[in-house]
Amino acid sequence: MLEDLGIHIIELSGNIHATAKDMVGQTFDNITIQKDAYFIDYAKELKKEINVPIITVGGFKHIEEIEKIYNDTNIDFYALSRPLICEPNLIERWIDGNTTPAKCIRCSKCRTANGNYCTAFNYYIENIE
Ligand SMILES: Cc1cc2nc3c(=O)[nH]c(=O)nc-3n(C[C@H](O)[C@H](O)[C@H](O)COP(=O)(O)O)c2cc1C
Repeated sequence: MLEDLGIHIIELSGNIHATAKDMVGQTFDNITIQKDAYFIDYAKELKKEINVPIITVGGFKHIEEIEKIYNDTNIDFYALSRPLICEPNLIERWIDGNTTPAKCIRCSKCRTANGNYCTAFNYYIENIE
């Protein structure tokens, strides 16, 4: 049905990042925002209703946790925002076997008046400038 309308995938996000630490644990429509996968329970509910793939974003830092959720659910794709701003090579290093968690400390100071870059680890200055 959705595909008939030209919708082939849905990304589920609440666009929370700076406020996330205060919102984790809060419940809306009987669904609770989770600490390390903010919207995973929303994604599970949505997946019951629709048959196009779902991308969920928000709070992912651990590849083991992403893999566990992937194995335990039928959620198709997992997106990362701040972790990739902090470590643009994060996926490459996970693939290469260094599976330590993303270094991102979720401070959300990566949204600046001069563009989006990690201010916590000076990544921008050390590697790009
Ligand atoms: C610098 C920055 C810019 C963002 N811009 C957008 C945006 O334009 N549209 C949007 O829907 N979400 C935007 N977000 C929210 C992210 O898509 C994402 O939902 C949020 O950061 C939580 O995911 P994370 O824990 O992987 O960072 C932005 C987040 C950051 C930190």
